[in-house]
Amino acid sequence: MKLAVVGGGSTYTPELIDGFARMRDTLPIEELVLIDPAADRLELVGGLARRIFAKQDHPGKIVTTSDLDAGVDGADAVLLQLRVGGQAAREQDETWPLECGCVGQETTGAGGLAKALRTVPVVLDIAERVRRTSPDAWIIDFTNPVGIVTRALLQAGHKAVGLCNVAIGFQRKFAALLDVAPADVHLDHVGLNHLTWETAVRLGGPEGDNVLPRLLAEHGDAVAADLRMPRELIDRLGVVPSYYLRYYYGHDEVVRELRTKPSRAAEVAQMEKRLLKMYGDPQLDEKPELLAKRGGAFYSEAAVDLAASLLGGAGSPYQVVNTYNNGTLPFLPDDAVIEVQAAVGPQGATPLAVGELDPLYAGLTANVTAYEDLALEAALRGGRDRVFKALLSHPLVGQYEYAQQLTEQLIAHNREHLAWA
Ligand code: G6P
Ligand code: MN
Repeated sequence: MKLAVVGGGSTYTPELIDGFARMRDTLPIEELVLIDPAADRLELVGGLARRIFAKQDHPGKIVTTSDLDAGVDGADAVLLQLRVGGQAAREQDETWPLECGCVGQETTGAGGLAKALRTVPVVLDIAERVRRTSPDAWIIDFTNPVGIVTRALLQAGHKAVGLCNVAIGFQRKFAALLDVAPADVHLDHVGLNHLTWETAVRLGGPEGDNVLPRLLAEHGDAVAADLRMPRELIDRLGVVPSYYLRYYYGHDEVVRELRTKPSRAAEVAQMEKRLLKMYGDPQLDEKPELLAKRGGAFYSEAAVDLAASLLGGAGSPYQVVNTYNNGTLPFLPDDAVIEVQAAVGPQGATPLAVGELDPLYAGLTANVTAYEDLALEAALRGGRDRVFKALLSHPLVGQYEYAQQLTEQLIAHNREHLAWA
């Protein structure tokens, strides 16, 4: 089996390699190609990747290259984990929306739109090249904003599934609190990427007993503290929102906080410097502790599981992924991309049925779906008016004065990445 990772020079890659090494029975990789335009990073990351494989006696071969077409040629699956413009562009996304009093975040609100506009054309170009060299390959998209990017890929007819680690993070956390094995925890996870709620926590599988009320009664404080939301809010909802909902439910509080501290991009850039230095140490042959301070925990395990199932191997039968709605949430168009539990196999992902969604969550989900639709239009076709409409539709922007100002800022800060601007 051949796997290619686009953005393979990312500091996240050792997390992935560690998962590939530990879970080699689930996903028997013969060749792993790390592809990245940054040759210097690739060399550092590739070196550590080879040492991790060697330490764990993994027989797979690791190839590094900056040549995308050669790298993806003949791959069974291609993982996309790139960041157009790097942490510098992310820093912008996190900064200029604050001038309007709007949240500055790389996947939510105006910053998320900027990221979508930079990213969609690049990802579509890569996917086209994958299709030319390896028409049967599965594309696993971890590139944000995952919902919009996955929708772009599916609309263009690619064999793609979108992946995020929020659900697996909850699964692991709840398993630890309940003192059961992670595989025994099945989440009723519903919404859009970075806009989800855990509406039930079941033991044993999709038909298992819902232990969410017990979990909240016994461990509500721990759950709330992790999300940085008040316990009272979680109790009132009776469901567990993802931490990305804090940008909605606690918007003004978050804006106040963001204004007083360095951006996450700046923090991550510092960490990346230290990580790359560590990766260059020929003695290092495992993922360093510091990597745990990044947001990507369990990403590797989710990716292994998904790739294994898509390629006909021994992945979990149900996984939380991003895929077409196709009637699962009846209040959304069929071609909206949602994030839910799905049966995953060589035919792709088929969402499991979801019970009726409370209007409290359905309303926001429908609103953000409309935004994602307009955002994708803007990303594919460009133009000031399309950017403006996407921003006006976003529940965290909404007012025309903000939408106007943010449109100008988005374009000014991203001109070099926008072919039409
Ligand atoms: C989580 C999210 C990812 C996001 C990451 C950011 O893993 O699910 O979509 O990219 O956090 O982590 P970072 O360490 O870059 O802030
Ligand atoms: Mn994510």
